Amino acid sequence: MRAARTILAVLALVLAVRSPAWADPPFDPKDPAMAKYISGDKRSGYTFAEPETRAMQDDDFMNPAMLWVGKGETLWSTVEGSAGKSCASCHGKAEETMTTAGAHYPKYDAGERKVVNLEQRINLCRSQAMGAAEWKYESEPLLAMTTYVKMQSRGVPVSVVVDGPAAPWFDAGRRFYYERRGLNDVACAHCHVDHWGQHIRTELLSQGMTNGFPTYRLKWQKLGSLHRRMAGCNEEIRAEPYPLGSFEYVALELYLAWRAQGLLVETPSVRK
Ligand code: HEC
Ligand code: HEC
Repeated sequence: MRAARTILAVLALVLAVRSPAWADPPFDPKDPAMAKYISGDKRSGYTFAEPETRAMQDDDFMNPAMLWVGKGETLWSTVEGSAGKSCASCHGKAEETMTTAGAHYPKYDAGERKVVNLEQRINLCRSQAMGAAEWKYESEPLLAMTTYVKMQSRGVPVSVVVDGPAAPWFDAGRRFYYERRGLNDVACAHCHVDHWGQHIRTELLSQGMTNGFPTYRLKWQKLGSLHRRMAGCNEEIRAEPYPLGSFEYVALELYLAWRAQGLLVETPSVRK
């Protein structure tokens, strides 16, 4: 009964506006230009995007997210806090010292005894290493720095550790992903595992991969974090969103990073 109701709910959403192309993403899988956005049966959201959106991402001069990258670069060498240090004081040139970090978060932090994502790692350095105030989640400086750091890993395959002390987060994230929630009684997996490649209203459902975050969304007219996107997807199914940076969303982020393993970091991505 319940399963039937869920299928009906998803179908109702998927069929809400049936667009003419009821088919695969708008690209030829054999197109060599798409090869670096595909790993086995995993496809980056890039392969589902309109050609104009892809073109914006392809060209750093056209990509609006580069504005934030520029801000991040300035902040990198800005001295702040009681220790009188900048990021550069300890980490030198980001292009040399941050070339892989973005591909390996979220990660278990032995000092904190919990899994932290990149935003939280940056804030730990601010509060503990610099004696500076933490940046608020989704604030301009945190978005800028996260994007700047993660972009240094562009082209590096996503790879995260999900066993050992990280296992409880991974398990919680996976459970979240398959759990029905909200008034529509729908799970993340219903859309991004069962129905990718199909249209839902005006949008083409992707596999919900995370290798391009933070992302510039045309709909937002600005850069946004993965947690903002998660909250949006939660609202989409009329489920209560969790606070950005919460245990639930970091756990989900770890699970999503594991799903995206093998895809290359493409931060900053551009999406509709
Ligand atoms: C009712 C269908 C639906 C559900 C359920 C849903 N999403 Fe989405 N999601 C979308 C749509 C539509 C988009 C925008 C197009 C696309 O990339 O699929 C999207 C985009 C995303 C993206 C961005 C992909 C990219 O390439 O930028 C992520 C990540 C994502 N969703 C994660 C989730 C998570 C996590 C959940 C569960 C909390 C979830 N979604 C539940 C419909 C859904
Ligand atoms: C006083 C020195 C110091 C300063 C200043 C500092 N950090 Fe760190 N940072 C560290 C240390 C030490 C580690 C390693 C921590 C660990 O592994 O437990 C680290 C780790 C990191 C990592 C994770 C790297 C990885 O491969 O896991 C990132 C990202 C990072 N810092 C970013 C920043 C940013 C951004 C700033 C400025 C806002 C900053 N740090 C300022 C000392 C510093």
